[in-house]
Amino acid sequence: MESTRRTFLGTLLAACLAGAGLLLRAGAAAAKKVAIDLSKLSSLKDVGGSAVVSIKKKKILFIRTSEDRIAALNPECTHQKCAVQYKKKWGEIRCSCHGSKFTTSGKVLSGPAEKDLKSYPTTIEDGKLIVKI
Ligand code: FES
Repeated sequence: MESTRRTFLGTLLAACLAGAGLLLRAGAAAAKKVAIDLSKLSSLKDVGGSAVVSIKKKKILFIRTSEDRIAALNPECTHQKCAVQYKKKWGEIRCSCHGSKFTTSGKVLSGPAEKDLKSYPTTIEDGKLIVKI
């Protein structure tokens, strides 16, 4: 009887671990690298420049924050999902719906939004912007 219970619990544990492994693999597989030729996005050439690009049915707000860094953000406000805007002269991201403000890296500067904008990892390699989405 004890042996049967141990076998059952062992099988249950193995099934849970296998399920967790599948979820981890699915999550890792979901984030894919996308390469964008920077020569085709002239608005990202200079620091402070920006562009909104649709990738895999998602809009991504790119902002060149320094010579070697381009931020990639979900331009959906974390308060009530309005589209945020960025202008170089502002030096920040703003939501016109209720006035939230974010840094060019997506951190909340002022609410009502309490959560940072979702950001995606980026690198610049050989004239290409690599973003993991
Ligand atoms: Fe952006 Fe409310 S939806 S501040």
